[in-house]
Order: sequence, then C-alpha cells, then structure tokens
Amino acid sequence: MRHLLSTRDLRRDEAIQILDLAEDMAQVAGREVPKLPALRGKTIVNLFYEDSTRTRISFEAAAKRLSADVINFSAKGSSVTKGESLKDTAQTLGAMGADAVVIRHGASGAAHVLAASDWIDAGVVNAGDGTHEHPTQALLDAYTIRQRVSGTGARGAGLDGVRVVIVGDVLHSRVARSNVWLLSTLGARVHIVAPVTLLPVELDNWPVTVGHSLDEAIDESPDVVMMLRIQAERMDDSFFPHPREYAREWGLDDARAARLGGDTIVMHPGPMNRGLEISARAADSVKSTVLEQVANGVSVRMAVLYLLVTAPGSDRGVSAGSTRGTGGEQR
Ligand code: CP
Repeated sequence: MRHLLSTRDLRRDEAIQILDLAEDMAQVAGREVPKLPALRGKTIVNLFYEDSTRTRISFEAAAKRLSADVINFSAKGSSVTKGESLKDTAQTLGAMGADAVVIRHGASGAAHVLAASDWIDAGVVNAGDGTHEHPTQALLDAYTIRQRVSGTGARGAGLDGVRVVIVGDVLHSRVARSNVWLLSTLGARVHIVAPVTLLPVELDNWPVTVGHSLDEAIDESPDVVMMLRIQAERMDDSFFPHPREYAREWGLDDARAARLGGDTIVMHPGPMNRGLEISARAADSVKSTVLEQVANGVSVRMAVLYLLVTAPGSDRGVSAGSTRGTGGEQR
C-alpha cells in the first residue's frame, strides 16, 4: 500500500489485512512499555489544515508507539497564514525528510493532489479531505463493529450481513462516504437515514438503501446505529428549520435509545453535538462505542502507518510482513 486516500478503491482483502494487523497492534497497548521498534528511524509528518482532536492525536500516538519520529504541523500558526501554498509547505517538509504524511485539508481531493505530486517522496494518508473521505475513521469503525457485533469477531472475517444504519448529515460527511464504501466492501448492509436536504446528489450510485425515518429504522432492529455530526461549519445555508426540529426528527434521543435492541451498538465519530444528533444519555450509555472507537483508532492507525512505510517498493528500508517478524518484540 503506497498511499491510503480512500476506502472506495480498497479491496476486501486489503481492508481485512489492516483490521487483522490492527488486532496485533492492539496487543501492544496492553504491554508495560506500549511500544514497537518497527518504524525506528522513520519520520511521520502530521499535516493538519483543519482542526482535529482525535485523528491528529491518535496518529501521533500511533507513530510514537511504532518508535517513529513525529513532526506535527498545524496550518494555524504556520506560514500558511502568510499565504504559503500546499506545494511549498509539502516541499519544505519533504526537505526535512518524511516517510509518511498524514494530511487533513478542507479541500476535497487535497490528499490525492499531494499523493499524485512530486512535491514530497512519502506515503500519503488522507486524514479527512473536505466532504470527500476519511478512510482511517471508517477502518476504525469497521474494526469496532467487528469487535462488538456478535458473530463477526473472527480474524480474517469481514462484516457479512451486519446491518448498519447511518443517520444524519450525510451531505457534508466524509465519515459517511468512507463508511459506505468500506462497510459495503466488507459485506455489511448499509441503510441511510437523513432529511432530504442533507442527502448528496450522487446517492443513487451508492450501495445503500435510503429512508427518512429514524423511528422506522430502529423498528428494524439494526446491529449498528451510527450517528453523524451536524457539520454547522460547512453549512452556509439553512438545511433544516431549527435544531430542535432536527433533534426531534433525526436525533437519537433518550426515548429512541431506549427502544434499541439489547445488542445494538451506538456509534459516533466525534466530536458530538450533545442534545442535537445524540442525547447525552445515549452518548454515555453502555451501548455507545464512542470511546472504544477512539482507542481502536490508535491501533488501526498503527497498522496503516506500518503498512505504508514498510510497503514493498517504498524504498524506506523496512521489510513488509506481520509485526511479529519485524521487530515486534517488546523493548
Ligand atoms: N472523528 C474525527 O475525525 O474527529 P476529529 O475531527 O477530532 O479528528
């Protein structure tokens, strides 16, 4: 794997390889010294043009657990505010030496542009580009589903037959797009619930069913209810009359959460708008996997960084294969 830009072009065997390797990486967290020497001498650059808490910090934690050096770059406080371009920024970071670049950018396609350029010789991970994709979020969501939904937990397995309902602001959600492609590739059945104003025009080409009633979706006893954040920062128009109306029609409130089946899990990528798309009680309930998703994000990102930096042909000097054979011993 040279770059990870999208889940749309990720094959099932590639996705399962990442999930299985993430399971190995999760073992490291339980050790007295939660570190592997696998990427010692390698440099990971976190290039963040948009705000982030979970993604940026978990990529940093993942790189450090693999013993890589980490350079954190935030556009705020950098020469980007003086007008420096992505090309010049990437070339500057490349001159300092980078084996992988993790990029979050407000423009859809920014990660693809960087990966296709000769500005920097490094693997590129898309950590969220505009409203396009957020592949590692979908991978950590799939990992969490495989752990939590009964009948799916086996190594090497996909998510065949798992019923997932994705609810809310699909129009602006890169999380939704990446999940739709990945979960479908892994065999899950995805149902989208949203107001018509928050559905994208390209929806007809997606491998999903679509409805507008969260109550009807809950009546079908799904395995997973994934709530999406209302992305107010991307809304320059009025997409629903009032937050109270949105919460009433499409929010996972206390009453709806109480109607969920005993084995149904509630997911949210974070950050959450408590009281809008999800009630505080639903977010903090035993059904909620919000914090498990965060923890799993470190393991999944360790797997992704490892595969990228050690990919055959990457000329980065670390042999590919399982962590068990590549310095996976505790040090
Ligand atoms: N889920 C997610 O991408 O969160 P952050 O914006 O905090 O990284």
